[in-house]
Amino acid sequence: MKRHLFDTTYYVGACHRTKTLFENLFPIPNGMRYNSYIIKDEKTALLDTADESVGEEFLENVIDTLEGKPLDYLVVHHAEPDHSALVLKILNLFPAAKLVTSTQSLKYLNQFTGRDLSARAEIVKDGDELKLGKRSLTFIAAPMVHWPEVMVSYDKSTSTLFSADAFGSFGCSEGNLFISGLNNIGDWTDEARRYYSNIVGRFGVNVTALLKKAAALKIDRILPLHGLIFDTNCGFAIDKYSLWSSYSAESKDVLIVYGSMYQNTKKAAEILGAQLSQNGVKSKITDVSYTDFSYIISDIFKYEKLVFACPTYYGGLFPRMEQLLNLVKKSAVKNRKIYLMENGTWAVTAAKNMSDLLSDLKVEICENKVTVKSACNSDSLSQIEALAKTISNS
Ligand SMILES: Cc1cc2nc3c(=O)[nH]c(=O)nc-3n(C[C@H](O)[C@H](O)[C@H](O)COP(=O)(O)O)c2cc1C
Ligand SMILES: [Fe+2]
Ligand SMILES: [Fe+2]
Repeated sequence: MKRHLFDTTYYVGACHRTKTLFENLFPIPNGMRYNSYIIKDEKTALLDTADESVGEEFLENVIDTLEGKPLDYLVVHHAEPDHSALVLKILNLFPAAKLVTSTQSLKYLNQFTGRDLSARAEIVKDGDELKLGKRSLTFIAAPMVHWPEVMVSYDKSTSTLFSADAFGSFGCSEGNLFISGLNNIGDWTDEARRYYSNIVGRFGVNVTALLKKAAALKIDRILPLHGLIFDTNCGFAIDKYSLWSSYSAESKDVLIVYGSMYQNTKKAAEILGAQLSQNGVKSKITDVSYTDFSYIISDIFKYEKLVFACPTYYGGLFPRMEQLLNLVKKSAVKNRKIYLMENGTWAVTAAKNMSDLLSDLKVEICENKVTVKSACNSDSLSQIEALAKTISNS
């Protein structure tokens, strides 16, 4: 399919609508879009390829769009296989095409393909420009957003940022490709946050550095490698990235995440939620065993106040909670207030274990905790009441 976007830019990406797990890790109930673009100026440039799983459709789109014109440049912003799997196929299909990429990216492409592609390569670095005619691409290094070799590029003539994985999102339920086609721009946020927090989340410093470079540019369009294209409201996306990369919470509400084998810790979590509600404080309650971690990590980036409630398990933590907290630790989330509730029958250590696990994070862990001995009793109920008060007043 030939799909015109704007000026001399075309869409040649494709959706995988039946894929269930991105990176065999993250649930994608609405599939995944692998974006790729062609600029047809005096020179033609293909900006990144796509995932192997959509290879046939992608190659058909490239051929339909070029309409017999040769391909001059294959630009690789990011060497991860979800965008680079078809590099070799494209280079074979267009033997005169130059591979425009960074030194590091070429190294990774060579590793992935088992070939030495250097004879085909034209190496670019931060600040270099690739002239295509009326259009041109200026490369901006974006190391660790979210791989070391990543570059984004900027076309001044159309004020367009080709942002690689940045500003990407899970899902492709729309036939529409543009943010302007959404009834409510907020509809982008939840799946974009889940993508950001799980895939880019720990690299806040690097994202901040990229945003700083981007702040010097006039940006009217953002074309990411996944999800919808920002043809409007670029400021909305940039503001969200500023917030997430600085680990600032979007909501002052409370997230309560509990694990529970026999429902006693669950009951304590429900009572806390009810007490908070009585105090006029909103909360979201999540069972750690029945919610995919990626949604919980996303909520941890959203909410300012986090309650973790968990039984003691052989002197350690209920395993699902331990796994989650290890991911929280890796996410490097900051600026959060953390409250702990523990349960146990003979030697209750869960709160200390949770506190130890999170001790490297720049978060505030409240000393005022709740200890349940097997089941809630008057003692633990008054602790829950006190914790609800503390949270409500914080
Ligand atoms: C496999 C397993 C290991 C446990 N290890 C401990 C422990 O080390 N210390 C302790 O005090 N309780 C331990 N418990 C008991 C639970 O923490 C306790 O019964 C708690 O009340 C369960 O809460 P729940 O009703 O929310 O599942 C263990 C329970 C199980 C099933
Ligand atoms: Fe990536
Ligand atoms: Fe990607």
